[in-house]
Amino acid sequence: MKIAVTGGCGYIGSHTLVDLIENGFEVISIDNNSRSTEQILTGVEQITGIKVRNYAVDMCNLDALRAVFEKNPDVAGVIHFAAYKWVGESVEEPLLYYRNNLDSLLNLLSCINDYGIRYHVFSSSCSVYGNPIELPVTENTPLSVAESPYAMTKQVGERIITDFAKTGTHQHILLRYFNPVGAHPSGHIGEIQPIPQNLVPYITQTAAGLRPQLRVFGNTYNTRDGTCLRDYIHVCDIAYAHTLALQYLVNKTDNTPNCEIFNLGLGEGATVLEVITAFERATNEPLNYQIVEKRAGDVEKIYSDNTKAKKVLHWRPKYTLDDMMATAWAWQKQLLIINY
Ligand code: WQD
Repeated sequence: MKIAVTGGCGYIGSHTLVDLIENGFEVISIDNNSRSTEQILTGVEQITGIKVRNYAVDMCNLDALRAVFEKNPDVAGVIHFAAYKWVGESVEEPLLYYRNNLDSLLNLLSCINDYGIRYHVFSSSCSVYGNPIELPVTENTPLSVAESPYAMTKQVGERIITDFAKTGTHQHILLRYFNPVGAHPSGHIGEIQPIPQNLVPYITQTAAGLRPQLRVFGNTYNTRDGTCLRDYIHVCDIAYAHTLALQYLVNKTDNTPNCEIFNLGLGEGATVLEVITAFERATNEPLNYQIVEKRAGDVEKIYSDNTKAKKVLHWRPKYTLDDMMATAWAWQKQLLIINY
């Protein structure tokens, strides 16, 4: 079965290509490489032996996107990762985010409609919960106000898909990722953030001496140690959940419901200081950090109830926080050598 992976040259996209191939799927990537490099597909090939074809088209260009599906009429399903995802950047450039993230989704859904593509898995985010009204959050937790334009593009994206799903027999799954971190154990693929935006790339670049010091954004939150709490989940566990989601859709015998939501988190919370401690423990690398003022837009604490994904998708996350730190560090050292 052939699956199109949009954003296939990205962090979660490339790890999902590996998992899909290892589970017998044929894959193509659709990625304009505006925030990625096709070089990562070399790493996918080193792991799987498969050379994945990437169609470097901008999904906001409907004609260009349609041409990909014209050339690949046997695509049965799409996993849609391609989107901009920096919370801070979205606050500074809201139109860039609304245009890119929503135009690309709308064009993809038109193609799903016009080319009879049966299965769609959408990359959503725990950021749709905003500052959650309850913890842990379940898929039924009411969504609070989106804290950034990025989060709003995910809330609106979910609503667009939910409405579209009512109009046909296409089947949709929305996967709400918590904080994806770590890298494939082979060391051949991982996240590439030349200017780190997220905590773990910032930690590994500080430990590698590329950054002088990690700034910890605030320690006066209402948490165990005052620093923000998040639900960190290994990127390989996230990737595997996409394969299970597709297999679930393929094996469904009826059409109802044809849009389902799943939380993808470890179901545990870890504070920033606990992540730092886990990094030092897993790598024996002491980390230079300093507590500074809070970062605007940060949610104080959020972590998932992942029962539904375990029960319905038979998903079992298997990597620990220490594994996440060890694989992230191994990838950072690899990056110093291959210098993507
Ligand atoms: C984590 C914690 C910071 C950097 C991310 C993605 C978003 C979405 C959800 C998928 C926070 C603290 C960070 C630093 C720090 N993922 N921090 N110093 O904000 O939870 O959002 O996950 O859809 O796309 O961006 O992740 O890694 O930026 O921050 O103290 O230098 O680490 O305050 O508490 P965040 P993050």
